[in-house]
Amino acid sequence: MNQELLLRLFRSIDRNKTPDLVKVASLIVDDEKRKGHVRLADKLNSLLTKDRTEPQKFSYEVKQLRSTGIPTDRRNNIPLAVRIPKEQLRHEMVLDAATEKKIRTIEKEFAAKERLAHHGLKYRRNILIYGAPGCGKSMSAERIAWNLGLPFLKVRFDVMISSFLGETASNLTRLFDGIKDFPCVLLLDEIDIVGKTRSQSQDVGEMHRIVNILLTLLEDYSSQGLLIATTNVEETIDHALFRRFDDIVEMPKPSREEIKRLTKLTISAINQSQEISWDSIITRLEGASSAIVVKVANDAAKLSVIGNEPLLQQFHFEKALEENNFYLK
Ligand SMILES: Nc1ncnc2c1ncn2[C@@H]1O[C@H](COP(=O)(O)OP(=O)(O)OP(=O)(O)O)[C@@H](O)[C@H]1O
Ligand SMILES: [Mg+2]
Repeated sequence: MNQELLLRLFRSIDRNKTPDLVKVASLIVDDEKRKGHVRLADKLNSLLTKDRTEPQKFSYEVKQLRSTGIPTDRRNNIPLAVRIPKEQLRHEMVLDAATEKKIRTIEKEFAAKERLAHHGLKYRRNILIYGAPGCGKSMSAERIAWNLGLPFLKVRFDVMISSFLGETASNLTRLFDGIKDFPCVLLLDEIDIVGKTRSQSQDVGEMHRIVNILLTLLEDYSSQGLLIATTNVEETIDHALFRRFDDIVEMPKPSREEIKRLTKLTISAINQSQEISWDSIITRLEGASSAIVVKVANDAAKLSVIGNEPLLQQFHFEKALEENNFYLK
């Protein structure tokens, strides 16, 4: 059955879930998985299990943001963070076993935070994720929020660091204060903007102040959620800032195995030829970021759909690789 029809069917089942319907629907999910349509099967499965699995997975109370909402900058009244709705969070990641384990540990500790507290232990609350561009740093933060069912707030540095530099530090304080009773994942994406080594700053005095405020805020940060900062230029980050994190996770570039898994995941909704020479495709993609691997696989899939081909074939990949030569070594 066509993918869109299946998704519509499952959405309507969601409104009227009888045990028989759920049983048949589960068989369809298994069948799609067997056909190699992993992505579709996952989507269908999450529609089917939506309201039953989520509370079971991690159960804790998510409090509402105070009626005042997300704190705003004083001058223009613009929110200092943007909230990204759950359905827009990217979460289907391909990671090597070691990195997956590190991210999983963060999730597990958060889910067990009450039990840990009972024994006087603290969960990993402030996390720094670093690595090359396009390897899933921002996506990891979204995935953690998605898996934990936590609201996701992304700091707006464009608003935070206004042309009125003197206000940046007070904006940071307002935001941290305003959300301290609101468990969420707070993403400070590309923290290098504020975390640059103090000596490198143009406006040394002001950056000094901002970094110092951030250091203090991180030290005292005791919200009930998670703070995740990302950077791809870790060497320019102030070392004092590094020490304030409870965990530092490196996001590596994908190895051959992950390149293959990522490619297959990306094209899982498309019928594929059995003749595709994966080895040669992976060799061309070696050294690329996950984002580029996904782009090439998507481009190949699009070429086959636009060409009205019944199957995605090797030459679609060849063409997509050629088109993306700029990004590949
Ligand atoms: N590990 C991964 N698994 C699946 N997809 C990935 C992964 N990493 C990256 N991607 C793909 O690459 C895109 C970009 O990822 P993301 O925005 O997380 O990169 P980033 O490391 O934050 O990059 P930047 O440093 O440029 O901000 C994602 O939308 C996704 O399509
Ligand atoms: Mg990013």
